Amino acid sequence: MAACGLDFGTSNTTLGLATAGRPSLSPLEGAHRTIPSAIFFRPGHEAVIGRAAISAYVEGEPGRLMRSLKSVLGSSLIEESTPVGRERLRFREVIARYLGAVKSRAEAAGGVELDTVVHGRPVHFVDGDEAGDRKAEDTLRAIAGEVGFRHVRFQYEPIAAALDYEQSVASEEIALIADIGGGTSDFSIVRLSPERHRRADRAEDILANDGVRIGGTDFDRRLSLGTVMPLMGLGSPMKRADLLVPNGYFHDLATWSSINRLYDRKVFRELEEVARDAARPELIDRLRTVVEAERGHALAMAVEGAKIAASDSDDGRIDLDWVEAGLVVAVDRAGLARQTDTLAERVAERIGRCLAQAGLTAAGIDAIFLTGGSTGLPHVRAALCASVPEARVVDGDTFGSVGVGLAIEAARQFGPVRVLAGADAG
Ligand SMILES: Nc1ncnc2c1ncn2[C@@H]1O[C@H](COP(=O)(O)OP(=O)(O)OP(=O)(O)O)[C@@H](O)[C@H]1O
Ligand SMILES: [Mg+2]
Repeated sequence: MAACGLDFGTSNTTLGLATAGRPSLSPLEGAHRTIPSAIFFRPGHEAVIGRAAISAYVEGEPGRLMRSLKSVLGSSLIEESTPVGRERLRFREVIARYLGAVKSRAEAAGGVELDTVVHGRPVHFVDGDEAGDRKAEDTLRAIAGEVGFRHVRFQYEPIAAALDYEQSVASEEIALIADIGGGTSDFSIVRLSPERHRRADRAEDILANDGVRIGGTDFDRRLSLGTVMPLMGLGSPMKRADLLVPNGYFHDLATWSSINRLYDRKVFRELEEVARDAARPELIDRLRTVVEAERGHALAMAVEGAKIAASDSDDGRIDLDWVEAGLVVAVDRAGLARQTDTLAERVAERIGRCLAQAGLTAAGIDAIFLTGGSTGLPHVRAALCASVPEARVVDGDTFGSVGVGLAIEAARQFGPVRVLAGADAG
């Protein structure tokens, strides 16, 4: 029986075993230690997860892809069901299948049976809704129980990242931890030192925690709504002069967790009518092409790919040749920033609130530790660093820090490998 740390992310998941010394992440898909939080249901076959799920969809296998499952936690959707082939599955059941598969893979790779978990969680699953936050955590706890964890505890994702960072801290400092992921942006201000790292109770070293439900998937949505969706009819007029094409379809198509809603005959018929009444039906025909072929995720992946390419090399392209010959959208850093500036500002604003909570000014922060895929967005990174201009900038393991930190926490709370008798958090 052993304990682990589990970082179930909106976009990627990692699992770290609570080993003595430096914990490491378990291989979860071949040699990969991160696995996309994606599941693909194939009629008549076992569901597949991770990269394999994405490939099956991209290659056009019949079935249903689901991503951004964590976004459903804390929303009313969690109790709803979604059609999967002939059956309907509740979203919480979908999450349980995914996490159950991740757990089994780690057990097989490590030759251990995992019965104890420290689960990461964002500071807020939902903004300004304590009851919603509690419900999301309760749901995740129940799911952890269903997949076979007997002892379940939670830790804030940025506190976990702080524990990972602290392994390399040489002397006492005050650090701002920024974890900008796919679904949420989370911050902690913590006092770190090699000596404090050995203490069991760190409550007095945690000076502030805050977060907002904005992450990379929201940047994808904004970029899509700003560049691609107008080419598919968003904002275009109906024949009746004072009306625009209804915009709900475009929002669903631009939002990872709601794309599947469009794959419904009723929606296909509605879109046929919209095309008939639209002043520019050729735009709606592009939308129908994507929806009827169930290629909404392919579109979202193309948008995400362009966001990453624009971030990394200032040169992103959303190739829509498969929708209509020659259709393409160019995205550079300036364009990406223009489309998503408000989101970046709203993320960085949280730092001010965190400083106030800690009773510090920006000058009181010695280092800013960056983790999470969306710290790769240049304007986000710039806004974060500008909030604490004197702080040293430290880049963490972008996709691994939280998982490693959760494993450190698991080892600390439950002891490495063996679970202490009666150590149940209830
Ligand atoms: N180089 C890059 N530039 C910009 N964004 C990137 C880059 N690489 C990955 N991303 C984005 O980072 C996000 C995923 O980050 P990460 O894996 O840290 O999130 P997560 O832990 O799954 O989500 P969360 O913690 O919010 O639940 C995705 O939205 C992805 O598009
Ligand atoms: Mg994360």
